[in-house]
Amino acid sequence: MSGKRRLAILISGRGSNLQAFIDAYEAGELDCDFALVLSNNPDASGLARAEAAGIPTDCVNHREFETREAFDRALAARVAEARPDLVILAGFMRILTSEFLTPFAGKLLNVHPSLLPKYPGLNTHQRALDAGDSEAGVTVHFVTPELDGGPPVVQARVPIISGDSAETLARKVLAEEHTIYPLAARWFLEGRLVLTAHGAELDGSLLPPTGFPFSHDPTPPR
Ligand code: GRF
Repeated sequence: MSGKRRLAILISGRGSNLQAFIDAYEAGELDCDFALVLSNNPDASGLARAEAAGIPTDCVNHREFETREAFDRALAARVAEARPDLVILAGFMRILTSEFLTPFAGKLLNVHPSLLPKYPGLNTHQRALDAGDSEAGVTVHFVTPELDGGPPVVQARVPIISGDSAETLARKVLAEEHTIYPLAARWFLEGRLVLTAHGAELDGSLLPPTGFPFSHDPTPPR
């Protein structure tokens, strides 16, 4: 068995962020073991991406549970079996309760397609357009019981230009997700990123309330 740190990735759908992690690993940018890719949705097309990469997959179908808590307990038990050091929510479309959050507190990251604290929840791109915003973006954050409200780790911005629709904006933002999410995971796996009582800390310093401001230029810390 290798001594590498272990990653579990939870998905519900197409898994393009999962693919970004696989690609980062293959490019030598992420040193880890992919312990498990798990979906709550048996039809998630992202499961095929994991299988193609030789990663163990499983499904815990939320429809088979009477309550959210019962699903979360089963999910937590299955994820714990994989002994992850870090759990990545990558388009995992279930709201999680303390049954899941407590056992993985401090090692749970999510990606949310808005410039948090703006637009937690759904339809983020349309909401940014409706508000007449001049930019949109994406935030990787630690997960806490507050929906999309845990301490931000890193944020990337994209300009909103005339003619943008929710679809064009989603495409631009997704490209940024694929860059900043593996980067945040890398910081965590290297022991540089931790969640403390004060918030998210990178290299011993508290990150700003909106996370590290990612920019393609200049190069971020690697
Ligand atoms: C992404 O837009 C992510 O921000 C949101 O769900 C979507 C997942 O996409 N949380 P994918 O399944 O990773 O392609």
